[in-house]
Amino acid sequence: MKIGIIGAGNIGANVAYGLICSEFSDKISQIALVDIVENLAIGKALDLSHASAVFEKDIKVIGGSDYAILSGYDIVVITAGQTRKAGQSREDLLKINAKIVAEISAKIANIAPNSVIILVTNPLDFMVYTAYKSSGFPKNRIIGMAGELDSARLKCEISNLKNEKISHIKASVVGFHNDKMEILKDEIFIDNKKVEFSGKEFDEISQNTKNCGPKIVNLLGTSAFLAPASGIVKIIKQIITEEDKTLICSVIDESEVPCGRFVKLGKFGVKEIVKFNYSQNFTQNFAYFKEKIKNIEIKTQNKETK
Ligand code: APR
Repeated sequence: MKIGIIGAGNIGANVAYGLICSEFSDKISQIALVDIVENLAIGKALDLSHASAVFEKDIKVIGGSDYAILSGYDIVVITAGQTRKAGQSREDLLKINAKIVAEISAKIANIAPNSVIILVTNPLDFMVYTAYKSSGFPKNRIIGMAGELDSARLKCEISNLKNEKISHIKASVVGFHNDKMEILKDEIFIDNKKVEFSGKEFDEISQNTKNCGPKIVNLLGTSAFLAPASGIVKIIKQIITEEDKTLICSVIDESEVPCGRFVKLGKFGVKEIVKFNYSQNFTQNFAYFKEKIKNIEIKTQNKETK
């Protein structure tokens, strides 16, 4: 497998590092970092190629600003874009990042027409839609990473509150990657037993989960990157290994609205959107997305490639 990463910043470099360190690294032959800042991509690729050599792995890591290096790649991760600054919401980045992601997606469609695109740039669900329209790819080949991150953050909150190990906790966050995210209260289990929360407890873990992003921005002056990079590595693992496992990813179904849903992944991207009885609120929020996206001009490709 050849994996391209657009944006050699905090998330991009850590995705590459996570892949090199992963237990499925033997399935990866090449990683390419592409960044508008050429030296950054070349320099980090060089450093990463040495990291790969330290672990005695056979992954070739290359970098540059020319998309031609991605020719025939299987998976392309888009991390390029602006990050949030303190006081900014993810939506504040919409116009600026939509332009960046649209341009990049069109280039990927040309150079790696059979690839699966994974997005992390914020506002995530809007960027998933932008990449879908601008690449002209079918819905199954566009995947956004957020649900696994939000669910992990929720698990940390539950672990702290109930003093339980993360590996014993099952918890899921679906819907949009913003304040409208939906914590599935009835799907929280510890050792397969449903967890009961007082109203106050549930409000607290919900609020804390939603606030993780801004809290990190306030502490670091930039957005989180290690956990988001881990979420992408998890998605790539599913695509490569095709394990029969359900993840939560931002995907587009027939409603044409991208948001976090339960999915199974494989080498062509989304293998299956798993049926689930989502709340009324979940679908009602679609109107919010449609209203916002209609004001964004996205250059579209006419033809869907297979
Ligand atoms: N083409 C290629 N690379 C670009 C482009 C572009 N048009 N525009 C920006 N970049 C590069 C920048 O040069 C930078 O190296 O994208 C990289 C982004 O890296 P960081 O600023 O470190 O941001 P990061 O923390 O990786 O987050 C990227 O993910 O979670 C979201 O909100 C976050 O939208 C942000 C994105």
